[in-house]
Amino acid sequence: MLRKPLLLAARSAACRRIVERTPLTRAMVHRFVAGEDLDSALPAVRDLAGDRLVTLDFLGEDTRDLAQAEATVRAYEELLAALGEAGLGDRAEVSVKLSAVGQFLDRDGEKTALENARRIAGAAAAIGTTVTLDMEDHTTTDSTLGILRELREDFPSAGAVLQAYLRRTEADCRDLSGAGSRVRLCKGAYDEPESVAFRDKHEVDRAYVRALRVLMEGEGYPMVASHDPRMIAIAGELAAANGRGADDHEYQMLYGIRDEEQVRLAGEGKRMRVYVPYGTEWYGYYMRRLAERPANMLFFARSLITR
Ligand code: FDA
Repeated sequence: MLRKPLLLAARSAACRRIVERTPLTRAMVHRFVAGEDLDSALPAVRDLAGDRLVTLDFLGEDTRDLAQAEATVRAYEELLAALGEAGLGDRAEVSVKLSAVGQFLDRDGEKTALENARRIAGAAAAIGTTVTLDMEDHTTTDSTLGILRELREDFPSAGAVLQAYLRRTEADCRDLSGAGSRVRLCKGAYDEPESVAFRDKHEVDRAYVRALRVLMEGEGYPMVASHDPRMIAIAGELAAANGRGADDHEYQMLYGIRDEEQVRLAGEGKRMRVYVPYGTEWYGYYMRRLAERPANMLFFARSLITR
């Protein structure tokens, strides 16, 4: 019931102003966001990298401003240089939202996003790591996959996110299941119309399993991005049935969610990667996390009332 209004609020400038000004928000945001700058995020990354792998997201999205897109690219270059200096090139990769690096610019948006993604992928390659393109709402899927195709000509290890709730995703998994392809499969976090997406939770779960089966049977590298114990168990079964060892696939969860389970999976020798967002542009990301779990919202509301 709360999911739709929260996802609408995630795109509202007025709601953003209210939430950002609420004094208690900051403490709650830090459950999901590692810090507002690189210096505050790096200690969390170092901690996690002891037993887990990491992917870092410099928060930002929906940029309509070329200068801001450029600032985001520079932030990624700075981040990758810092990861290299810290000797974390083999433990950490980066995740990028194309809408933060120019995809929505009125003039030459896709061209700019591709050039910027190439710069980030180049900086990643220089420290021995790679980049994965996040997936935003369904209006961007074709554009994002087109940019991925071009990016992979120079950086074959660049990966993509596919969202199981989209009706098209099983076919996209087939297209992206070839050798060298890295696909992060998630359920999907946006409010999508029935015409393009499954909206019932059970239908989404079934679609997730179908898509995962395609990826596990393929020749690429599946990245199982879910906190759902059933999806994780099924992923293990599908990996075993397809002769995949611990190095042939990985599990991924978001920073601040099911930490004990992350530790447990890593302790079993599984490749476990944590998606670590940081930066000041946390609003959209944070609201999507609230929308995923009503209990998060109730906790938030209670804090506002009792403050
Ligand atoms: P589900 O929503 O069924 O949750 C299963 C269980 O996990 C819940 O019962 C709860 O215990 C726990 N849980 C899930 N979300 C929680 C939360 N917010 N707070 C507390 N507990 C929670 N989406 C997208 O559209 N584009 C993208 O690029 C990405 N990228 C991405 C990367 C990675 C590494 C992950 C793990 C996820 C994404 N997502 C995403 C988000 C994804 O689409 C989805 O919204 C969330 O992962 C929640 O779905 P689950 O698979 O966890 O299942």
